[in-house]
Amino acid sequence: MFAAILDRRTCHEPFTDQPLASATAEKLQNYATLVLDPQRVAALKKIALQAWRTEAFHPPSWNESVDLMRFGKGEINANPDGIDLGGPFLETLILSGILTRAGQTDPASSGFKQTIAVYDNMLGATPAFAVVTTPGNSRLDQIAAGRRWLRLHLAATALGVSVHPVSQALQEYREMAKHYDAVHDMLAQGASQGGETVQMLGRLGYGPAVLRSPRWPLESRFI
Ligand SMILES: Cc1cc2nc3c(=O)[nH]c(=O)nc-3n(C[C@H](O)[C@H](O)[C@H](O)COP(=O)(O)O)c2cc1C
Repeated sequence: MFAAILDRRTCHEPFTDQPLASATAEKLQNYATLVLDPQRVAALKKIALQAWRTEAFHPPSWNESVDLMRFGKGEINANPDGIDLGGPFLETLILSGILTRAGQTDPASSGFKQTIAVYDNMLGATPAFAVVTTPGNSRLDQIAAGRRWLRLHLAATALGVSVHPVSQALQEYREMAKHYDAVHDMLAQGASQGGETVQMLGRLGYGPAVLRSPRWPLESRFI
């Protein structure tokens, strides 16, 4: 897994409709529960999409993301964290004034509509999901889930499989409750009686090669 560290990256892109090879799925099942059955995948895609739209059309949650968007190379280099909107296609939309911070807070704008279309398309292009649940929801459970997820992602990287967490349905606020319940009804044992918590839900499949996410230089983290 160590060998995969520098190649591991999150792929926020549509995946091909190629299903996971069975030998690959078998290996990844050591780290997470995989959802491969087309009907269950379709049901989860629907939940993930509705949850994403719930977040996007709820200004208090959506504006948290907009505040963290970095529009173009200049903003990304100045703050190499958050949600980086870079690369030739997005830079063109930014330069032409279609993709702007103000537009992203206005559901009537063409930039916002474009964002919705991009996400609808991306979430739809998902042949499988990976799920990590824990028996409870203590800090130790959460850290254990993070370890399992990272191992899953490194193992997937070594096998050429792309990974993309989609966390909206797992978030705990009133407007999200019905998607949280739907995802738990489907994926957690005994969820309605304080049972398992779904800690991670992610898309799995074969996506394009993507650039490494921006990072602050290591030295900038030293005090
Ligand atoms: C706990 C957790 C939840 C995440 N949830 C989402 C998500 O809902 N949507 C998304 O696009 N990426 C999500 N990500 C992926 C991050 O966007 C990604 O890790 C970040 O862009 C850094 O990129 P890298 O993984 O390529 O280093 C999540 C990552 C973690 C660790």
